[in-house]
Amino acid sequence: MDIEEKIRELERRNREAELGGGEDRIAKQHAKGKMTARERIDYLLDKGSFQEIDKFVVHQCYDFGMEKKKIPGDGVVTGYGTIDGRLVFVFSQDFTVFGGSLSGAFGQKVCKIMDLALKNRAPVIGLNDSGGARIQEGVVSLGAYGEIFRRNVWSSGVIPQISVIMGPCAGGAVYSPALTDFIIMVKKTSNMFITGPQVIKAVTHEEVTPEELGGAMTHNTKSGVAHFAEDDDKAALDRVKDLLRYLPQNYLEKPPAVECTDDPNRTDPELNKVVPTNPRIPYDIKVIIQSVLDNNHFLEVHKHYAQNMVVGFGRLNGQVVGVVANQPRVLAGCLDIDASIKCARFVRTCDCFNIPLVTFVDVPGFLPGVGQEHGGIIKHGSKVIFAYCEATVPKVTVITRKAYGGAYDVMSSKHHGGDINYAYPTAEIAVMGPEGAVNIVFRKEIEASEDPEATRERLIEEYRRNFASPFKAAELGYIDQIIFPENTRPRLIHALTMLQNKHETIPPRRHGNIPL
Ligand code: HXC
Repeated sequence: MDIEEKIRELERRNREAELGGGEDRIAKQHAKGKMTARERIDYLLDKGSFQEIDKFVVHQCYDFGMEKKKIPGDGVVTGYGTIDGRLVFVFSQDFTVFGGSLSGAFGQKVCKIMDLALKNRAPVIGLNDSGGARIQEGVVSLGAYGEIFRRNVWSSGVIPQISVIMGPCAGGAVYSPALTDFIIMVKKTSNMFITGPQVIKAVTHEEVTPEELGGAMTHNTKSGVAHFAEDDDKAALDRVKDLLRYLPQNYLEKPPAVECTDDPNRTDPELNKVVPTNPRIPYDIKVIIQSVLDNNHFLEVHKHYAQNMVVGFGRLNGQVVGVVANQPRVLAGCLDIDASIKCARFVRTCDCFNIPLVTFVDVPGFLPGVGQEHGGIIKHGSKVIFAYCEATVPKVTVITRKAYGGAYDVMSSKHHGGDINYAYPTAEIAVMGPEGAVNIVFRKEIEASEDPEATRERLIEEYRRNFASPFKAAELGYIDQIIFPENTRPRLIHALTMLQNKHETIPPRRHGNIPL
């Protein structure tokens, strides 16, 4: 064979590998509205930056006639490249090859990428579209999953890991994405479940469609497994690019700063009118969040789940911040099980990756109810405490209105390590709301009075004046400054600039034991 022939041989083999499961299966993939594994990588990475690894790897299975069916690449395209010029590692499951199912060889390819990512401290992005364990390989496939899971865990908190679900993801296979930092699902074409509708029907006699059971909106609204739901493959891949702009390459770095095109001293007089003076009237906390962030841009995470809590990313003076806020529009902003889990997870994600936390507080307390108590609100609410107390990134808090009871402590209070704690003049910081407090403390006095209703009203008003304000907390130094709402943005930027070299350590240990 001369060199010309060798080159042609390589070209032929490259073409063969690039065709995956063949034209027919590619057409089927397109007919479902899905891109192929390679098209997805091309769209995700900077043009021409992809460097493929293990293109000619094939499986080593000799059962079920598999020795006659070998497709180069074996169902997953792996390699590295850049997004916005930053190094990332990627694996993209190819549904056209054995349904993207995971063999031993496939697993080794994914592990090689994950090992390189960890050693080189760069994010891993997994594009999932797979029928799960390669049935013909049996336990070899299960072992390969286990190897991937261990790497997911070892990489957790070291490098960002992002999963995009772009097709089926079933059985134990769901656990690799579940162990990563963010899950993005494509509407209609993706689903995730441990056991599918048929098994469920056989075992519990429940009838459910794959979409209802584990579609994008199910996991974005009900289970909270997924963080984003996007309309199609391109939108999902755009979301990955967007998300990466808020994340560092690894835990030793800060997220990328950009030049700020929005005035850091910008005030917003409209904010003085956002919080109603009547504590019973709700308002949208996102109005405040969007107003203060650079160019009013807020990337909301977990938008559809536990909407009484709002979390997401933005920038202040060009620096990334993680925003956590109670949402008075939903359940009056109460902390319940789902909101607690959502909040704690996000706080920990930010703390892993050196992202300062800005917390807006308007919380009447933990949600009362038998369901909440029996569901373990004690255990789940304590996750919020754990996450904030453990977080050593800069923490700046703004109490806009209610901060009652345990929920006051929990939401990034001074006592839990808040570095700078602001309050609006509308803040009400107390053990409980005026009505509840007066009914308990003055019950006998009210009942004995000539006009109980008038007495109650008078006492409520007195209580509100004396206790339902930020001044008592400010006298004690629990609130550092009472600020005019219009100045929120400049105040936050001043605080975060002061805190930019913050260094704090917590006592050494093997690891904390967060209540799970
Ligand atoms: C081998 C598989 C496969 C699998 C699909 N294929 N899943 N091959 N192992 N797990 C092959 C099919 O034989 C077919 O090959 C091609 O992929 C496309 O599959 P279709 O069924 O034609 O596609 P579609 O109708 O779109 O259905 C997709 C599907 C279905 C819903 C994913 O294939 C399916 O239910 N597969 C089995 C899913 C499953 O039970 N997996 C095991 C889960 S348990 P041809 O040659 O005809 O194109 C698990 C354990 C992990 O994963 C444990 C980790 C700890």
